[in-house]
Amino acid sequence: MATILLLSGPNLNLLGEREPAVYGTTTLDELVAIASETAAKRGHDVEHMQSNHEGDLVDAIQGARGRCAAIVFNPGAFSHYAYALTDALATFDGVKVEVHLSNPHAREAWRHHSVISPVVDGIVTGFQAAGYRLAVDAAATLLEERTT
Ligand code: DQA
Repeated sequence: MATILLLSGPNLNLLGEREPAVYGTTTLDELVAIASETAAKRGHDVEHMQSNHEGDLVDAIQGARGRCAAIVFNPGAFSHYAYALTDALATFDGVKVEVHLSNPHAREAWRHHSVISPVVDGIVTGFQAAGYRLAVDAAATLLEERTT
């Protein structure tokens, strides 16, 4: 049994009421439940943390070192410019999956680049709430591959 840290960046606390045409109507609590149920089916635990502050997310990533086996991260808008998160993730040697509800590549040009993508194992974008199930399943699969 491993602990998977689900990390949620800025404005994701407003999911459910935030731009539902883009992000869907699923709340963050419901996404955490989807992630937890998916992880439980694979024998793992999910710990969740949301923050609107970059430094708090850096602290959470550092706190996962040596304690969590994987990080599933939706960095929100920080994806596009927050290099401190890139550096923090580079210090975490477990499995790392980036997840986005929307498909940033189909949106404004400034969303097309992610500074997070170079330091993760894989990316799940555009599947809205189902992406959280896919991302946790992907993390569990990579964990199994690393331990066998
Ligand atoms: C997002 C995409 C980002 O561009 C945006 O800033 C978000 C949410 C997504 O889940 O689709 O806050 O990460």
